[in-house]
Amino acid sequence: MPGIVIVGAQWGDEGKGKVTDLLAEKADAVVRFQGGNNAGHTIVRDGQTWKLHLIPSGILHRGKLCVIGNGVVIDPKVLTDELEELSRRKVDTTGLRISANAHLIMPYHLLLDHAGEAKLGKLQIGTTRRGIGPCYADKAARLGIRVQDLLDEKILKKKIIAALEPKRLSLRPFAKDPRLDLQTMTEEYLTYGHRLEQYIADTTRLVHDQLDAGRCVVFEGAQGALLDIDHGTYPFVTSSNPVAGAACVGAGVGPKDIDEIWGVTKAYGTRVGAGPFPTELNGTLADQIRERGGEYGTTTGRARRVGWLDLVALRYAARINSLTALAVMKLDVLSGLDELNVCTRYRGAEGAEFEHFPYHQTVLHHATGEYVQLPGWTEDLSDCREESDLPPAAREYLQFMSDFVGVPTAMIGVGPARDAIIWTQASAGMAGAGSRAPASASA
Ligand code: GDP
Ligand code: IMO
Ligand code: MG
Repeated sequence: MPGIVIVGAQWGDEGKGKVTDLLAEKADAVVRFQGGNNAGHTIVRDGQTWKLHLIPSGILHRGKLCVIGNGVVIDPKVLTDELEELSRRKVDTTGLRISANAHLIMPYHLLLDHAGEAKLGKLQIGTTRRGIGPCYADKAARLGIRVQDLLDEKILKKKIIAALEPKRLSLRPFAKDPRLDLQTMTEEYLTYGHRLEQYIADTTRLVHDQLDAGRCVVFEGAQGALLDIDHGTYPFVTSSNPVAGAACVGAGVGPKDIDEIWGVTKAYGTRVGAGPFPTELNGTLADQIRERGGEYGTTTGRARRVGWLDLVALRYAARINSLTALAVMKLDVLSGLDELNVCTRYRGAEGAEFEHFPYHQTVLHHATGEYVQLPGWTEDLSDCREESDLPPAAREYLQFMSDFVGVPTAMIGVGPARDAIIWTQASAGMAGAGSRAPASASA
């Protein structure tokens, strides 16, 4: 103990990478527990930018135990490329461990993701096309190939044959695709196996050892609560559970191993891909926020949709995750706006009002935000390091947010760099605040 879970409280890209890197400073291990390389987690430190897709955001801390848990789906090509890029940039990756039980994204998963989206046409989800959905589908169908299978040619081949069998019809258009040749695929994946073998481990045991020894483990989520396959805006969601409960399943620990749950949110809203977004903005204001916030996808480069802060959705995210703290990022991006709208309820078709996040897809698709207007501020926040450095209107905005959601704010982001952060008074008693780190940590 303690175990601290970090989750996205919106539609992803809230700044989880930055928060994880900060909390990893004093933690003993960082564990990714779900998602795959649909995630793009950015860390900016010492003027350098790091974009991580699979490797936990603790890796920049030399030798830190960084675990890719059983709940993650791994594209081994992306993982080996990421490892190479890190070693090229002189980052020590010896602390990495990969769960032998994690599932592998195979070439046919990528093709099926593309084909599935193309078939949906106008109704497409806007996936990252990284094969995430088809890989989790195979996992559930018990046709998945796991990391441990990379180490045995016979088993690997047998499992690929079994996985391809029920997909014959849907893969027919790709019959001549060299990536689907059984021998080529097997050899390619065996090569990944050799490259990754040194990192493969019984990661569940490793995490237990850390917790049993009283060490601090940070569980790093990907995506966000509203992209959760059960609790998000289905079907416009990802194919895993980004909520805090999944940290237990995806790492192999029980709920009692978790002490704190930090929900990362922006001070406004964004979403990549299709699906309902009740507080979405269009036009000049959206463009202005998108440019100021650099709202372009870390993984796909797509322009992110932008909107006002949605407190109905955030309160819902706080409840389904049992959030104990908020990390409010990108407050600096809102400087210079006269008035700020925050959504406190939705209006649906025929004037119906909703205080709670609607469970019904049709209602959600018609919902628009009803707003409270709060005063804006003009000051540049990027040099603020204490709450008292913030202009009164910014403090009022944060207070309104925290009061509405019923969760204290532990951390406030005022710029992309790791030192552009405010640790609040409320963070003082929290285990994660033991991570309060000096501005320039070792890379
Ligand atoms: P993640 O997927 O949740 O890790 O978030 P992303 O890395 O996809 O997107 C967050 C973006 O916001 C990155 O470009 C970060 O460098 C940047 N960022 C994080 N915190 C702040 C902040 O407080 N202010 C500003 N301006 N940018 C931030
Ligand atoms: P991080 O961890 C933002 C979105 C996609 C799409 C939907 C399904 O960086 O916050 P998928 O490829 O998962 O089947 O796509 O989910 N999506 C994300 N949006 N941030 C992410 O990750 C995302 N991962 C998936 O845009 O709408
Ligand atoms: Mg991201």
